This record gives sequence, C-alpha cells and structure tokens, in this order.
Amino acid sequence: MKRIVSPSILSADFGNLERDIRMIDRSAAEWVHVDVMDGVFVPNISFGFPVMKPLRRATRKVLDVHLMITEPERYLRRFVEAGADFVTFHHEATRDARGCIAAIREAGAKVGISIKPATPPEALGDLLPEIDMALVMSVEPGFGGQSFIPESLDKIRTLDRMRRDAGLGFLIEVDGGISASNAGEVFAAGADAVVAGSAVFGTTDPEAEIRKILEAR
Ligand code: DX5
Ligand code: ZN
Repeated sequence: MKRIVSPSILSADFGNLERDIRMIDRSAAEWVHVDVMDGVFVPNISFGFPVMKPLRRATRKVLDVHLMITEPERYLRRFVEAGADFVTFHHEATRDARGCIAAIREAGAKVGISIKPATPPEALGDLLPEIDMALVMSVEPGFGGQSFIPESLDKIRTLDRMRRDAGLGFLIEVDGGISASNAGEVFAAGADAVVAGSAVFGTTDPEAEIRKILEAR
C-alpha cells in the first residue's frame, strides 16, 4: 500500500513560509496540508485565502486543504479557485454535506470529509461512495502539537473495513499527534495519508523526519 505524508504548514515558520514550502517540495512528502481555522468551529484562527496564492505558486505538490470552519459551503469554491487539490470540510460543521460535496466537485477539486474525535465513522456511512477521502482527526482540531488519541486507531480500522466491505476507493487520512514513533501503527490500521506538523517542523532536519515517517514500522 502506498504511503503519503502531508506536512502541515500550521507548524511552519510564517516569516519564512516560502523557504519551508520549498523544503516540502524537495522532500519525499507528496502533499502539503493547509489548516484553515475560523475561530468559531475551533477555538483558534489560522489563515485564509491570502496564504493560498503564495503556496500555490511555490509548490506543485498536492494542496490538501483542511477547513475547520462553520458553514464551509460559503467558501468552498473560493478555496478550489485558490488552487486546492483536495478540499476537506468537517461533517460537524454543516447541515448540507451533500451540497458541499457537489460544490467541491463542480469547482473541480477532490472531496474530503473530516470527523472529530467524538464523531463515529458510521456518521459518514451514506456519504462514503461520494467522497475521495475521509479525514480522521486524532486530536481535537484547533492546535498543532497535541498528543495522538489512541482510540483513533479503531476508527481507522472501522473505516478501512467499511471501504473494503463496500468496495470503495476513498483514501483515509489521519491528522494530529503523528510522528515517526506512531506512524507505523497508523498506516498499519489502514491510513493512506498522515498529516504531520510539529514532528516535521520541530526538527532540525525536516526532510529526514518525513522519510522516517514514510518508513515507520
Ligand atoms: C489540528 C490540525 C493539524 C495540525 C497537526 O487542528 O488539523 O493538521 O497541524 O499538527 P501536529 O502534527 O503537530 O499534531
Ligand atoms: Zn489538519
């Protein structure tokens, strides 16, 4: 099974964003994870559209945009137009998940849906055939640098079983508290992609760290 690492620029140095993106560009990571927070859905505010443009200019890697915002339907198209390859919204943030899926697709990006730690994978049931990715949050969304919630492993296994039983091809991404020390277990549970923020940007050799995460057992 192929493994993907998506370094989260939430932990990058915003004074040197271009340098940090170029590092990801040279690295074995195939995706760049972009955490957008509105201060309402989560108790933190990160960044929005102005940051998308320089990112899109600086890298040809897959821009994996994770929206932690209420009523994402209001902004989906703009994120696609700003260069997102994947747009992932939270199941808990909208009453119209189907409308969000349709809007992202029409705008031309791949569709992800994320669930918070307290939301069971079964909540995604009917939607699974319509999405490209399910994102399991393995910490409470809002901040980098938190510890991985161990119960997330069972949620990944459940989703993996659901996709096999239904013969579906959506990817499973896992986000929060991931490093080379637990990435092996997370991939083994069925994850295709892992997000890593502080583990990558908190080291002196981020490229080596990315390789360690990819090769973790
Ligand atoms: C948290 C974000 C994560 C965060 C992960 O709300 O969705 O993507 O950047 O950071 P680490 O890897 O430090 O837990
Ligand atoms: Zn994220």
